[in-house]
Amino acid sequence: MINIAILGLGTVGGGVAEVIEKNQSEIKRVLGDNIHVKYILDIRDLPGVVRDINIIVNDPDIKVICETMGGKEPAYTYTHLALEHGISVCTSNKELVDAHGVELSRIAREHNCSYLFEASVGGGIPIIRPLRESVAHEKITRIAGILNGTCNYILTNMKSGKSFDEALKEAQEKGFAERNPAADVEGHDTARKIAILASLVTGKKFSYEQVHCEGITNITQQDIIDAQAHNMSIKLLGVYQDGYILTAPFLIPASSPLYGVNDVFNGIMVTGTQVDNLMFYGRGAGKLPTASAVVSDVIQCAKNINTNINNNFADLQPVSDLVKVPEVPEGQKFRILV
Ligand code: HSE
Repeated sequence: MINIAILGLGTVGGGVAEVIEKNQSEIKRVLGDNIHVKYILDIRDLPGVVRDINIIVNDPDIKVICETMGGKEPAYTYTHLALEHGISVCTSNKELVDAHGVELSRIAREHNCSYLFEASVGGGIPIIRPLRESVAHEKITRIAGILNGTCNYILTNMKSGKSFDEALKEAQEKGFAERNPAADVEGHDTARKIAILASLVTGKKFSYEQVHCEGITNITQQDIIDAQAHNMSIKLLGVYQDGYILTAPFLIPASSPLYGVNDVFNGIMVTGTQVDNLMFYGRGAGKLPTASAVVSDVIQCAKNINTNINNNFADLQPVSDLVKVPEVPEGQKFRILV
């Protein structure tokens, strides 16, 4: 039996407990053992939850922790503490991975445990491990991704006449949006995600502050109608390409595989010099898909107790060169994805 703890009983944390419960036999088949949620920690005083992280990190039964709290604190302090105790941490927290991922990965390596973050980008889509392993030998020339489920949900629903506010409210009710939805609609969440992906494929640490960031708050219903009239759709993209990294709304021609990625779905096109275009597609937000990605990391950690899984983050060096931004074509409101 592998005992784990979940930090944060929000949408994703609750989903992790549910996925582990529902997929017990599949987990047993791949892991050869059961996973048991021994503790759930939450800062709120809820029945059955613990509020003191020390109870968890001082329990020698605990081998893996899922950090699904979001935000920098107390997630950073708790993750740091767990890794120092040799407990692996699996997270969906892109803000923390972006801000402290390199440091936390080094601590994990020093203490023979792992810091994994599959759920931090693309919700349920396996993207971190494929980039880290399957295409590690490739020279990646571009990543262009619809990386925020909330924005994609809003833009898709505006096509059918819903207002921005109405669509955002629905995304919040469905559990897609961040606690502060400004992080979604102003592009910061996408900026963090493209910074994480670019870091994985370049060996340099891009941080979210280096990503030129535009959101979707200035997009009007008329923009959407105009795009449709030209056989294009408007999507918020995170783009990394040799020499630049940005988050902005783009016009996507109907010929692109990203054109038809709608609602909460994310799509990530990765281009390598040898493999050419790869397309990753799936639910980019939501309780069970995101939890499924966390559980995939838990299984990896459970198979590698007392071992560090190299997440390709510990040795990243900060990007020092200036990051360029492609201009919006003259007379246009949006860049076009070519
Ligand atoms: N708020 C995020 C989104 C959650 O809508 O994509 C998943 O990272």
